[in-house]
Amino acid sequence: MKTLKNLFLDELADMYDAEKRLVKALPKMAKAATCDDLRAAIRAHLKETEGHVTKLEQVFESFDENAKGKTCEATVGLLKEGDEIAADFKGSPAINAALVSAAQKVEHYEIASYGCLHEWAGLLENEEAVGLLQEILEEEKAANESLTELARSTCNQQALGESDAKEVGDDANEKSVKRSGSRPSVPSRKRAETLRESN
Ligand SMILES: [Fe+2]
Repeated sequence: MKTLKNLFLDELADMYDAEKRLVKALPKMAKAATCDDLRAAIRAHLKETEGHVTKLEQVFESFDENAKGKTCEATVGLLKEGDEIAADFKGSPAINAALVSAAQKVEHYEIASYGCLHEWAGLLENEEAVGLLQEILEEEKAANESLTELARSTCNQQALGESDAKEVGDDANEKSVKRSGSRPSVPSRKRAETLRESN
């Protein structure tokens, strides 16, 4: 018979594996970022992530269990997609927006998982685990929020503005892009300004 405690320990092993994979993946992601603030945010979250590995070991200990990981297929998949998008957008003005989106998918997965683990630790009446999981959950939520702020303040604008600047300055390229049908149909802010100035 499998009970809530089995489910809890199973999910804990999943997150232990996920965090260890993230410790390896985040430095690569930071290196791929060309926005200084994004790089700094990823590095700051790397430090927290190392702390999450330690905290999860303490959670295992609080249940008198040895820490063990179980391959987190979701994180494997999310990181693979992150690698792909980083390779696809390397050297492009949208690279930072692409990295933010990849990182936020991981954060949302972690927030969902730690939300459940935190709730279950309460039902299993392990206050030490509740406290540790609460700390991790808060850090994941804060990391997600700072990614949203960075996207809004810098990365999304950079992706939008610089690509338009290039298109406006390069007619031949603009035409070929137009024909391929991949140009956004909504005129950008910068493009609208350029049009206004020329009138
Ligand atoms: Fe984490």
